[in-house]
Amino acid sequence: MKELHNRILKDGHALSETVLKVDSFLNHQVDPNLMYEMGTYFKNYFKEHEITKIFTIESSGIAPAVMTAMQMNLPMVTLKKQSSKILNGDVYQTTVHSFTKAMDYELTLSKKYITAEDRILIIDDFLANGEAALGAARLVEEAGAQVAGIGIVIEKSFQPGRKVLEDKGYEVYSLARIAKLGEGLIEFVE
Ligand code: G4P
Repeated sequence: MKELHNRILKDGHALSETVLKVDSFLNHQVDPNLMYEMGTYFKNYFKEHEITKIFTIESSGIAPAVMTAMQMNLPMVTLKKQSSKILNGDVYQTTVHSFTKAMDYELTLSKKYITAEDRILIIDDFLANGEAALGAARLVEEAGAQVAGIGIVIEKSFQPGRKVLEDKGYEVYSLARIAKLGEGLIEFVE
C-alpha cells in the first residue's frame, strides 16, 4: 500500500533493528483517513473470501479493523486481553506469549459473538512472531469456525510470523512488509 509506505518513511522511526515506532498515526495518535484507506485495501483483497466477521486484538488493531468492517458491512469483534472473570458468561480463552514484550496474556472471546458457521478475517497492526494471530486463530477454531484470512498492517518480514502462519495454512496479506530496520533505515520487501 503506497500511502502506508510513504507514511512509514515520513513518520516512522526505527528504534532498533527490530522495533518500528509508528505512534503518530497507528499506535497512539490515529490517522482516520489512512485507516480508511487500509480498510479499502483489506476489503479489495478479501472480498471473495466469504468473510462473515472481522476479529481484531485490542488495542491498536481496532482502528484498521473497524474501517475494514465498515467497508465490508460486517460486524467487528475485539478479542480482549482480559481474564474471564471480567467478562460475563461463557468465553473461549487462550494464553498468548508476546516475545516483543516478554509477557503472557489471556486472549478472550465471548461465545456469544461467534458460531461454527463463521468465516473470520483476523486484522492486526503488527506481525512479528505471529503469536497474537495464532492465539486469535485458536479461539476461532475452538468455536468450530474458520479463519478465512489474516490481514496485517505492518509485517516485519525479518521475523518469523508470516512463515509460522503460512505453515499452519493461513493466508496472510500485509499492507507493508518491512525487510530491514536499523538506525535511520527502513527498507521494504520488494
Ligand atoms: P506477535 O503477535 O507477532 O508474536 O507479536 P508480539 O507479541 O511480539 O508483539 C506484541 C506487541 O508488540 C503487539 O502490541 C504488537 O503490535 C507490538 N509490536 C511488535 N513489534 C512492533 C514494532 O516493531 N513496533 C510497534 N510499534 N509495535 C510492535 P500489543 O501488545 O498488542 O499492543 P497494542 O495493540 O495495545 O498496541
